[in-house]
Amino acid sequence: MSEYLIETRNLKMHFPIRAGVLRRAVGHVKAVDGVDLQVRQGETLGIVGESGCGKSTLARLILRLLEPTEGEVLFEGENILAYGQNQMHRLRRDMQIVFQDPFASLNPRKKVGSIIAEPLRAHGEPGNHRRRVQELLEIVGLNPEHYNRYPHEFSGGQRQRIGIARAIALKPKLIICDEPVSALDVSIQAQIINLFEDLQKEFNLTYIFIAHDLSVVKHISDRVAVMYLGKIVEAAECAQLYGEPRHPYTNALLSAIPLPDPKRERERQRIVLVGDVPSPSDPPSGCTFHVRCPRADAYCRDNTPSLEPQRVDGHKASCFFPVLDSQQLGEGRDNILAVAEGRS
Ligand SMILES: Nc1ncnc2c1ncn2[C@@H]1O[C@H](COP(=O)(O)OP(=O)(O)OP(=O)(O)O)[C@@H](O)[C@H]1O
Ligand SMILES: [Mg+2]
Repeated sequence: MSEYLIETRNLKMHFPIRAGVLRRAVGHVKAVDGVDLQVRQGETLGIVGESGCGKSTLARLILRLLEPTEGEVLFEGENILAYGQNQMHRLRRDMQIVFQDPFASLNPRKKVGSIIAEPLRAHGEPGNHRRRVQELLEIVGLNPEHYNRYPHEFSGGQRQRIGIARAIALKPKLIICDEPVSALDVSIQAQIINLFEDLQKEFNLTYIFIAHDLSVVKHISDRVAVMYLGKIVEAAECAQLYGEPRHPYTNALLSAIPLPDPKRERERQRIVLVGDVPSPSDPPSGCTFHVRCPRADAYCRDNTPSLEPQRVDGHKASCFFPVLDSQQLGEGRDNILAVAEGRS
């Protein structure tokens, strides 16, 4: 048995851009560009990054809703890309997804009971579906009597609970939560995150929890991976990543989170990134972050960093000039440059 429930190796998804009458590929959108990640059973991996950096595409690749351009997806140590249709159907019981938009992900013409029972029907579960659905409604904090209502009769938070009930109906091992609270009010966000945490304890679930904001995944994640333009640029245990970020991008994202203490909030420096996220169809050369990075120089333009282990176990970052202490910029930077050049 593998140490990990889910693992990806050099996973890539390059969508072709087609043009002309013959619909020839004239380029590629590198939505996911070489992702290696590992998630242990019972753990929560948070994935964070700006809009368009490839988070949803990565989720769809892991669930095999998309066939990757390159790379492997391993579930309990087995490469699922080699699975046939029947094996894949069986595996789908164990992997579920909760979507970002609770308004778009539930069929408005179906009653809630029928929506939640859908995976039970698809997998030919025996027994009384109505009883099971009512049980599920209760587990996610909804009234079991509301079995016959339509999605529009519920609020956003309640609809997300319906989506969660559907996801746990088959007792999966892994749930990918693709920005499940982004569309909700802040007060409701906390309730839904608490529900995810309770369910994890109760059913021993493994989560991949996607968000575009580092503050959202902080409390639920054991480890966090930061994505930029289709690549993971930093990954670490939660406390380590928030406490001692190494990648300038993570540092900038963290500096954007408001602090609860007004005095500290006034005093601290905010790192504002210049420019927009570059297009994944034409990413910058070398380190793709160099065009926005406050620490980059010519070396970063010409060389591509890889995800290297940092001082603390399990902490990885892909940067030639990682953030050490803010004071260490001068001398430390020259040393790192020397090491980086020696390596290449
Ligand atoms: N089917 C597709 N064909 C072509 N390009 C696509 C396709 N799906 C996604 N993309 C592109 O891939 C990139 C990554 O998209 P993706 O939806 O994975 O980003 P995301 O990180 O989930 O963003 P968001 O935070 O907005 O949900 C984007 O540039 C997007 O336009
Ligand atoms: Mg998305």
